[in-house]
Amino acid sequence: MASSITVSEFARVGAHSHIRGLGLKDGRALMNADGMVGQIKAREAAGIIVELIKEGKMAGRGILLAGPPGTGKTAIAVAIAKELGEDVPFIAIAGSEIYSSELKKTEVLMQAMRKSIGIRIHEFRKIYEGMVEKLEIKMTKHPYNPYQQVPESARIKLKTKSEVKTLTAGSSIATEIISKGIGEGDVIWIDAETGRITKVGKCREYEGEKYDIEAENLVSMPEGSVLKEREFVYTVTLHDLDVRMQSRSGGIFSLLFGGREEKEIPPDIRQEVDNLVKKWVDEGRAEIIPGVMFIDEASALDIEAFSFLSRAMESELSPIIILATNRGVTKIRGTDIEAPHGIPLDVLDRLLIITTTKYNEEEIKEILKIRSKEENVKINEEALDKLTKIGVETSLRYAVQMLTPAYVIAKRKGKNEVEVEEIEEIRKLFSDIKQSTRYLKEHEEEMLR
Ligand SMILES: Nc1ncnc2c1ncn2[C@@H]1O[C@H](COP(=O)(O)OP(=O)(O)OP(=O)(O)O)[C@@H](O)[C@H]1O
Ligand SMILES: [Mg+2]
Repeated sequence: MASSITVSEFARVGAHSHIRGLGLKDGRALMNADGMVGQIKAREAAGIIVELIKEGKMAGRGILLAGPPGTGKTAIAVAIAKELGEDVPFIAIAGSEIYSSELKKTEVLMQAMRKSIGIRIHEFRKIYEGMVEKLEIKMTKHPYNPYQQVPESARIKLKTKSEVKTLTAGSSIATEIISKGIGEGDVIWIDAETGRITKVGKCREYEGEKYDIEAENLVSMPEGSVLKEREFVYTVTLHDLDVRMQSRSGGIFSLLFGGREEKEIPPDIRQEVDNLVKKWVDEGRAEIIPGVMFIDEASALDIEAFSFLSRAMESELSPIIILATNRGVTKIRGTDIEAPHGIPLDVLDRLLIITTTKYNEEEIKEILKIRSKEENVKINEEALDKLTKIGVETSLRYAVQMLTPAYVIAKRKGKNEVEVEEIEEIRKLFSDIKQSTRYLKEHEEEMLR
């Protein structure tokens, strides 16, 4: 699904690139740390949420970040993602993204939800592991093309610290060895069952020709016998498993008829995956890692989406749902009912609410400083004060957005830093929301409708 993005992509979203975490120390928010300024209570509350998530005590619950525009709701969600680290899935979508033309909105939500639940799988596999001490590949004529040579078989001498073993393998392994560029001195794994080969790296103890050694991943000579059972641990999401299960059950049809690619995943496929995962968990082969599904601009969700979410929160396999909104009391989309934040009361009832409040002058100034560094904008003290004042009168976001254009103008004038003059100029060029609304009101008659 193209509409959702993963943690790393989410973190790259320019406006929040300066956020590295919640800036907490022993649970207390520092005034200015990890790129975060002020908003102390909200950050500390978010810190508790992060702890609960890490301890697995938040599954099936929800959080609402509520506050006026530009008060750091999205920034705090980014910080939560950073604090959770790479191991915990974090999926971010905007409420309006569920209205895609290809998929039902509940399907978009369902997929996002299942992408935010990780399954850590422990798999024991028999593998041959060792350093390739000697490699002989026998080539033969291609059956249809006498001018081409193809690999027919391979003799691989694998060495560990305590054993040397020579394996003979057929053409498919020989081909894989060639295509993966495996040579003497490489440490490899060969899956005993499937024959799949993994190149682990170059062996540090290899005595032969040492070419290009810097460019490669250096590893030690494996220990123990060549044939061994090894535990592999990897994390996939429920959605990954859904997709795989689906392609297994319906793939051949699209091969034969070029049939339409099934984008929606039928409920029975998901049920099958859930059963499989439960079985793995019971057998001790897998753990469930509930991650986070973050829905920004939650007021764009409609009543159907909300009822889907409240049902989802009840289900056994559910991520932590974080919503953000800047709306006060407003209509629930798709109805005429007014509700706080435009969120139905039964959903609201399940949410822990974190509110964010407007920044004071000092905080705005600190955030502007951080952003100017982040955007490589040089600005003098006086101009920064001026911009801070503008931020207080209009909004933090408006002030942040003025940094780069002001710098462009300064450079055009041959200056290497922004001065008050450029701030004033930019202020005239770009309207803030209040100005543009006023303008619209005054000139309503002349505008297209
Ligand atoms: N406490 C903070 N510390 C550092 N930067 C912040 C802080 N709060 C907000 N910012 C930055 O200010 C800008 C606006 O904040 P953000 O987008 O998070 O607001 P928001 O509450 O999500 O607003 P909206 O309701 O319009 O979505 C962003 O660039 C954000 O990274
Ligand atoms: Mg936001």
